[in-house]
Amino acid sequence: MANNASGIKKIAINTGGGDAPGLNAVIKAATVAALNRGWEVIGIRDGFNGIFLPENYPDDDGLLKLTYDVVKEITPLGGTILGTTNRGNPMRYPMKDTKGNIVEIDRSDEIMAGFRREKIDALISIGGDGSLYMAHCFAQKGLRVVGVPKTIDNDLEATVITFGFDTARSFATECIDRLHTTARSHRRVMIVEVMGRHAGWIALESGIPSSADVILLPEIPYDINIVADHLQKHFAKGRTHAIVVVAEGAKPAGGDSSVIEREAGKAERLGGAVDRVAAQLKDLIENEIRTVNLGHLLRGGSPTSFDRLTALRFGAAAVRALEEGESGIMVALNPPDVNYVPLDQVSGKMRSVPLDTDVMVTARDLGICFGD
Ligand code: F6P
Repeated sequence: MANNASGIKKIAINTGGGDAPGLNAVIKAATVAALNRGWEVIGIRDGFNGIFLPENYPDDDGLLKLTYDVVKEITPLGGTILGTTNRGNPMRYPMKDTKGNIVEIDRSDEIMAGFRREKIDALISIGGDGSLYMAHCFAQKGLRVVGVPKTIDNDLEATVITFGFDTARSFATECIDRLHTTARSHRRVMIVEVMGRHAGWIALESGIPSSADVILLPEIPYDINIVADHLQKHFAKGRTHAIVVVAEGAKPAGGDSSVIEREAGKAERLGGAVDRVAAQLKDLIENEIRTVNLGHLLRGGSPTSFDRLTALRFGAAAVRALEEGESGIMVALNPPDVNYVPLDQVSGKMRSVPLDTDVMVTARDLGICFGD
């Protein structure tokens, strides 16, 4: 094994942002690969909270010692054994000023002090756009950091896929398959919402294989009259029912995504896209409409074998990267390899569905309507 030229003795792992199936598999692979190199491994609880708010964790000061025993059966487990948060970004931490107004404070130096206090030589940070942005900032402040791309939304740059996405699209496909039978029995239009805040990957890649008739993506503002016209023609051909898949960030032409919460220090919350489409369609078509929001069901459950393998590869590669002296990079899947990309190529960027890809062309060839 390695001669530890990296000088690393102790690493930390954290998980940030919305959870995604496969997080535990990354933790498992990174822990085992690091322990096998003689490194000590600790997990930070709840994003960065465990390291800068240790007083909130009376049992273990916010740090979980990761051993072979702790990680031995976690590969198939959904969620994250470390906990996570998409509230209270430490770089824009919401606090009350003297007048009682909420202001955002940068508390990243307290986190850097926490890493020094705990004698942590390097961090493996598993997360989406927000967490990778933070990882990039810590790398710039001198911490050795390797990022691991996670999100069911699959909207990160520089990797062909993020782990968690395959589980989400597979489960959404299965759910939409089930909706066909009930929709057919009642001659209904079923409108189903799936996660996908800024990018429509889940809607697109579950909607096509589950034979959706309409797919509405954040990338293509929709005209509801075009959707209604498509459905009318569809029923005029003698079809019994229809399925409309709506990404949560879908927006009407000239309108915006449906936001239900916008507060300092918190990620914006979307909601209601499916109800908006149903309300807009109600007076334009005759068939009965029902709605369903798959929401957080898509984040739960056990990762698919693809997500497990990708996550395990990412975790092991993150440790190899640290051993090789890398920092400020993210591991990425660029088949057949896992390679390293600088965090500044990823941080603050978002990967939308490209509208000219073969997948989109296939959907259009299949007659799927995008409301444009
Ligand atoms: O992880 C991204 C995501 O799945 C988005 O699609 C969704 O908008 C968001 O998480 C919801 O997160 P939460 O309900 O945890 O705030």
